This record gives sequence, C-alpha cells and structure tokens, in this order.
Amino acid sequence: RVIEAGGRPLIPGALDVHTHVREPGFSHKETWATATAAAAVGGVTTIFDMPNTDPPTANAAAVREKIAIAGPQAHVDFGVYGYVGEANLADLQPMAEAGASAFKLFLGSDNPLVPCPNDGAVLDALALIRETGLRCTVHAENTPILNWRGAQMKAAGRDDLAAHLAQHADIATVEAVQRIALFAEWTGCKIHIAHENCRHALPVIAAAKRRGVAITAETCPHYLLLSMDDAERAGGNALRVKPPVREAGHAEALWAALLDGTIDMISTDHAPHPVEEKHRASIWETSPGFPGVETSMRLMLTEVAAGRLTLQHYVRLACEAPARAFGLWPRKGALLVGTDADLVLLDLDHRETIRGATFQSKGKVTPFEGRETEGRAAMTFLRGTCVAQDGEVIAPPGTGRSLQPP
Ligand code: NCD
Ligand code: ZN
Ligand code: ZN
Repeated sequence: RVIEAGGRPLIPGALDVHTHVREPGFSHKETWATATAAAAVGGVTTIFDMPNTDPPTANAAAVREKIAIAGPQAHVDFGVYGYVGEANLADLQPMAEAGASAFKLFLGSDNPLVPCPNDGAVLDALALIRETGLRCTVHAENTPILNWRGAQMKAAGRDDLAAHLAQHADIATVEAVQRIALFAEWTGCKIHIAHENCRHALPVIAAAKRRGVAITAETCPHYLLLSMDDAERAGGNALRVKPPVREAGHAEALWAALLDGTIDMISTDHAPHPVEEKHRASIWETSPGFPGVETSMRLMLTEVAAGRLTLQHYVRLACEAPARAFGLWPRKGALLVGTDADLVLLDLDHRETIRGATFQSKGKVTPFEGRETEGRAAMTFLRGTCVAQDGEVIAPPGTGRSLQPP
C-alpha cells in the first residue's frame, strides 16, 4: 500500500468527503479555485462538496449548475452532495441522475438554506436514497435539544465558547446517531456519520456495525488533536466549530475508535470563513468552522512521525476507506501506478509551522495556527498530472473533473 520513490513514500491521493467549497453564493468565503488549490497542495486529489451553498444543491438543476461552476476552476477531482429535505423528496433520484456523488442530511442545522427535515421525511428520504445506491452523510445532532439549550444560554447572557459546548449536550449527538442508525437499519440505506466528536456516540456506532447496519463514520483532525483547553491559545473564537471541539478526554476515545475500526476515515469539514466573521466578540455571532483540507495530511503525518499510527493506517483512513465507502475504489484511494493514477509523493522530513496567512484557501483563521508539523505532500499527482509541488499549485484550473459526469 506504500511504495518508495527515491527513498520517499508514494501513497494514493487522499479523499476528503466533507468539504464546504461555498460556491455558488459565498465566493467571498471560498471559490472552487481556492478550495481545490488548497486540496492539491494538501495532497487531497478528490473532494466532496457539501450542499449548503446559495442556492443549496437541492435539485438536478442545482447539481448541474454546481458541476458547471466547479469544472473550469477545479485543480482536483470533485463530487457534489445533494441536499436532503422535506420539500425535495421528488428531487433525490433526479439529483443522482444529474451527477450527485452522495447525499447530505442535516439532522442538526440552524441554516435556513438547508433546514432539517422531520423524522417522517427522513425515513422516506432514506428509502428513496437506498434506490440510488448512493450513501447519505449525516450531520447527527438533535436540533430541538440544541436550540433549547442555546436559547437558555443566550437568555443567561452567555456568549463564550464554553456556552457553545454546553449547548451541545452529549445526548443531542448520541440520540441523533442512535436514531439515524435505526432508520438506516430499517430502510437499508447506506449512511455515513459526519464529523464525529463525541466519545459517547462511539459505542452506538460500534453496536450498529455489529448489527450489520451499513454505517461508516468520520472524524476530523481538530477533534483528534485539540480540546477546549486549546481555545485560548487558538485565540478569539478561532476554535468555534459545529459540532464543537470537546473537553479533554474525547480525543483519546476517538483515537481508540480509529484504531479499532469504529471510525472508518478522516475527513476535514473544511469550512472557511473570512477573518471578520471568525473574530467576533460573541460566540453566537461567530461563523462556525475553519479550513482543513490544506493541513489535514500535514497534521496526520506529524502523528505518524510521533508513532501514534502507522503510515499504512493513515493511508487506509484518508484514501482507501473513503473511496470504498463512497463507491470510488479502486479508481480513487488505491495505489495504482499508471497514467491515470492519483498519487502523492511524501516528504516526511519537511518541518513547517502552520500559518493561516499562507493558505491557498480564502479562510485564513485556523485553530492550528503556530503548530509545528512534520511531513507533507511534496508532489500531488491527479490522474498522472502533477498538480501541486512543495506547497505551490502548478496545474491550471480545470485540471480537476467531476467524478460523475452527467
Ligand atoms: C459548517 C459550515 O460552515 O458550512 N460549519 C461547521 O462548523 N462545521 C456547517 C456544518 O458542517 O455543519
Ligand atoms: Zn455538519
Ligand atoms: Zn460540514
């Protein structure tokens, strides 16, 4: 699974099944050109874009429009998520036919562009998605619990990061994961738990797997490597993200879950926002999320260097598992050598400090600011073409392609 080239390991291009590219609608936050440039330098050759754009990716025309916007700008290959809501059940199958790579269900959203469907609609949606053969990624948090808790926090005048954490009562995650696992079992739909951050949800995922539910799960570098104790060092509200980075102790359980297979893969939840939206006094007015697609491989290779996981295991988590779960294996995520290969040549000795100001992404605020990393993608090859080298993009926009040409 890992071969050596001139003494340097060659691994498959990584996949990120959780990227918020922001176009159409929020080009001031990120564009397809900047997000895919960030991916290319980060060793990520395939991204899946989330549907909370404006307009949201909620019907076949929106899927086609997004692919048309993305194609000419893209530096890496991309898939597009279709939104799952109460009002667009009849659009699910047409979205699949128009080229959607997967579906995204927000069970936990206060974004009016992508509201949470009621449970009846969720059941219907999963039955319909099952027929498409595609997987449904789920933001699993119980919205009524979150909204109730959030309103209490606001009424009490609490607007710090700890208030945001308290809003995220553990049970809001555990209940939503439990519920969607049950619905998946009932409907036979393949689901994927997004950005798992909570140690209490892990036994629920493990139990569903033992029952044979078609469930996979991801976590992100910030949940593995940071805790609330890092909030001050990150500065301002840089650490604000949904779901929140938790108290110390959760990360350890997430690592164990990566090692025992309860969590299948690493994604980034790349969610860029302009600096002025990140550094606001009130937590409730601070946009949640930060860029990640550019730093994920560097951060995880640093853990490889520290002996926390093997390079082979990292390749399984970042390349093989997402490709298998989302039906792309072995076209993506496998170590194929040839003219059509997505490959990353690693420089395991490269040491560098993370500086948001140097990012390709328009999102320059990262809670990893100032962190030393060891190892990076020295060269990123997309279908045989070198698209990035030593932190610079070298292939023109338009080198990337839609994974599912309509
Ligand atoms: C995401 C975003 O900004 O689009 N933010 C985040 O904090 N993760 C939304 C999401 O993934 O729920
Ligand atoms: Zn989410
Ligand atoms: Zn997200």
